[in-house]
Amino acid sequence: MSEPLLIDKSKKGRKAYCFPALDLPRGFEQALPELPSHLLRIKPARLPEVAELDVVRHFTKLSTLSFGVDNGPYPLGSCTMKYNPKLGEQIAQFPAFTTMHPLQDISTSQGCLSIMYNLLEDLSSITGMSWGSLQPCAGAHGEYVGLKMIRAYFLERGEVARNKVLVPISAHGTNPASAVMNGFDVVTVASNKEGLVDIEDLKSKLDGSVAALMLTNPNTLGLFEKDILEISASVHECGGLLYYDGANLNAIMGMATPGDMGFDVLHLNLHKTFSTPHGGGGPGSGPVMVNDTLRPFLPKPDIELTDGGYVYTWDRPLSIGKVSMFWGNFLVLLRAYVYILRMGSEGIKAAAAHAVLNANYLKSKLEKHFDVPYGGVCMHEFVISCENLKKEYGITAQDMAKGLIDEGYHPPTMYFPTLVSEALMFEPTESESIETLDAFADSLISLLERAKKDPAYLKGAPYSTPVGRLDEVRAIKEPDLHY
Ligand SMILES: Cc1ncc(COP(=O)(O)O)c(C=O)c1O
Repeated sequence: MSEPLLIDKSKKGRKAYCFPALDLPRGFEQALPELPSHLLRIKPARLPEVAELDVVRHFTKLSTLSFGVDNGPYPLGSCTMKYNPKLGEQIAQFPAFTTMHPLQDISTSQGCLSIMYNLLEDLSSITGMSWGSLQPCAGAHGEYVGLKMIRAYFLERGEVARNKVLVPISAHGTNPASAVMNGFDVVTVASNKEGLVDIEDLKSKLDGSVAALMLTNPNTLGLFEKDILEISASVHECGGLLYYDGANLNAIMGMATPGDMGFDVLHLNLHKTFSTPHGGGGPGSGPVMVNDTLRPFLPKPDIELTDGGYVYTWDRPLSIGKVSMFWGNFLVLLRAYVYILRMGSEGIKAAAAHAVLNANYLKSKLEKHFDVPYGGVCMHEFVISCENLKKEYGITAQDMAKGLIDEGYHPPTMYFPTLVSEALMFEPTESESIETLDAFADSLISLLERAKKDPAYLKGAPYSTPVGRLDEVRAIKEPDLHY
C-alpha cells in the first residue's frame, strides 16, 4: 500500500526527458549574464533519475492514497464536504485566469474585478448583508477579521470597556481562539436541555462590557436557534454586536438570511457552502460580510464600480486595513461564483433543502441503533453519542470512526461538539444519493454489530490504510514530518 519516495526509485542514468540536439551557435554561453560564484552549485543537485512511466505510476499511486469527495462519501460534520462540480475546476483553469497577475494594470483586469464585484453582490443578497471583503483565506481568518472590525467599531465610538465576547458552549474552537487573538476575554454561554442557547444564561451575562456574541445558526448540533430574534434583540439592547459563524450556512441559504436574524457581521466558508475545494487545509476562502454599521471598517481596498469601470478604493479611513496578500484567493472566489451562477437562486434553495432532507433521512435510519442525545428534526447535520457503547463494550467514537475507513468512508467528525460525550457528527450534504445514504447507514449498523461481538477487531481498525492506528495526540504534539 505505501509508496516509496521517487528518489528511492532513482537509477543512475535513467531519464524521463529527451531534449533535441543543441542548435545554438558554439560559445553562446558567453552571451549569458554571469552568475555570481557564490550562487553556483558546487555539486550537481540530487534529483531522482527515473523514467516517465515511473513518474506517472508514482503520482497516480499517491493520488489514490488520500481520500477526497471524489473517492467516496465524506460526512465530516461541520465541514460541509460537498461535491466540487467539475465545471468550476475547468473554468478556474482557463489561461485567461491562470495567467493573470494581481498587480497588473487595472485596465487589463476588469473581467476579474467584475467577478469579484458580482460575487460580493451575490453574497450580500444570500446573507442579507450590505457588503463585504473577499480577502480572508479561511473561515477562521474571517472570524479574526470580523472581530477586528468589531474591535475597531467600539474603539471609534470610545467604548473601550467592551472587552468580552460571548461564545456558546457548542461553538467551534476557532470562535474563542479568534476572540482571544483579538485581545477579547471569552465568556461561555450555556446550552439548554434542547441543545440551544440558554437565553436566561445569556441574559445574565449581557452588560456594558460585552462587545459581541458569536453564534452559528443552525448550531453545531445541527439545530436551528429558533429564538434567534430574541437573542439578537437582547445583545443589541445592551449595545453589543452579533457575529454569525457562517460555517453552517448550507442549511439555510436561499431560505433565511443572517441579516434578517439580526447579525451584524459574518464569515462564509466558500470551501464549504459554495463548493470550492478545501485544498487540504488551504487555500480556502472566508469572505466577511457586514451590515451598514460595520461597513466603514471593512478591510481595504474595496472594489467599486465607477463610470470608468471597476477600481480598487483605498480611501477608507476607518478600515482595519489589508488582511491578505493581494485581493484574496481569486481562483477559489471564481469557483464559488461559477457555483452560484450555475445553481441560480432556485438551485441554491434546493441545495439547502436537500442537505437538510439527507441529514434527516440518515438520522432516522441511525437513531434506531444509536443514541441521538438532541433528537427531533435536525438541519444539515446531527450528532450521535457512543457513550453507551463505550460503557458496555469499551468501543469509543474513535473506534467506530476508524472502522468506517475500512468500509470505504471518510470518518465523521469526532468528539465535537464537546457538549456530547463520545460524539460522532454526520453531515451527509445534499450531494449524496439515497442509495449512498442507505449503504452508509448499513455499514455503520453492521460495524456496530461487529463492535458488540468482536470489540478487539474494531480496536485495531483501520486495516486497509498505508499506516494503521496512529497515536493522534502524539502526532499533533510531536509531528514527525520528515522522511
Ligand atoms: C462551525 C465552524 N466555524 C468555523 C470553522 C473554521 O473554518 P475554517 O476551517 O475555514 O478555518 C469551522 C471549520 O470547520 C466550523 O465548523
